[in-house]
Amino acid sequence: MLKLLFIGDIVGRPGREIVEESVPRLRREAGVDFIIANAENAAAGAGITAAIARSLLDSGVDAITLGDHVWDQRGWEVDIAQMDRVCRPANLPASCPGWDHVVVQARGFRVAVFTVLGRQFMNMKAEDPFACADRMVERLRGQADAILVEVHAEATSEKQALGWHLDGRVTAVLGTHTHVPTADACVLPKGTAFMCDVGMSGPYASVLGREVAPVISRFMDGMPRRFEVATGDVRMSAALVQIDPAMARAAGIELMTLRR
Ligand SMILES: [Fe+2]
Ligand SMILES: [Fe+2]
Repeated sequence: MLKLLFIGDIVGRPGREIVEESVPRLRREAGVDFIIANAENAAAGAGITAAIARSLLDSGVDAITLGDHVWDQRGWEVDIAQMDRVCRPANLPASCPGWDHVVVQARGFRVAVFTVLGRQFMNMKAEDPFACADRMVERLRGQADAILVEVHAEATSEKQALGWHLDGRVTAVLGTHTHVPTADACVLPKGTAFMCDVGMSGPYASVLGREVAPVISRFMDGMPRRFEVATGDVRMSAALVQIDPAMARAAGIELMTLRR
């Protein structure tokens, strides 16, 4: 069996620190073969920089994915083109810079990963994620032994629908973006591991990783405020997927939560 760890939205320094501390240990002690992380909130809660991407990759993360916060840091739209182990959502317009997928390899087995953005309650110029996923799966079939699709979306219905849509054609469909892990990890009938949201890696004494008080005030009076990344109850949240290499099907999936 191969083990693939998919780490949910890394939020700010607390998220980066717990991931960078944990990844080498998980390789060594838990025998994890592939480590993929969504880092769309890694730079002070919004976006990513080249230095942060390099640091995560140096710690042992194999590939980095992104979401709707992909362009939040200035300069990243230039730097992303130099980083072939980082991909931006595949259903952004073709004119956007950056790769639309990454292929990672371990023990002679290749896993292709790509992200699609949902369109329900999301404010991005994204193409239909179902059609995009269909096209990407066809294109990547010959380039990889297994495919992982990240669904970066707000609506649980859209994520579940994409899971069923891709069941049997990819090894895993894993949700991100809501920052809260869901209790629905399962292997769908045709062998695709699914989870609505793998949760964030960052401070859980927070609202989605940000300090609580300014968020409450903003909800109450609508005035703009700085939302600093919180500091308390730091956790890493991830999905651990077991892959049967003979069939490229998922043999199991579980939520993994690490605390400092
Ligand atoms: Fe996020
Ligand atoms: Fe997001």
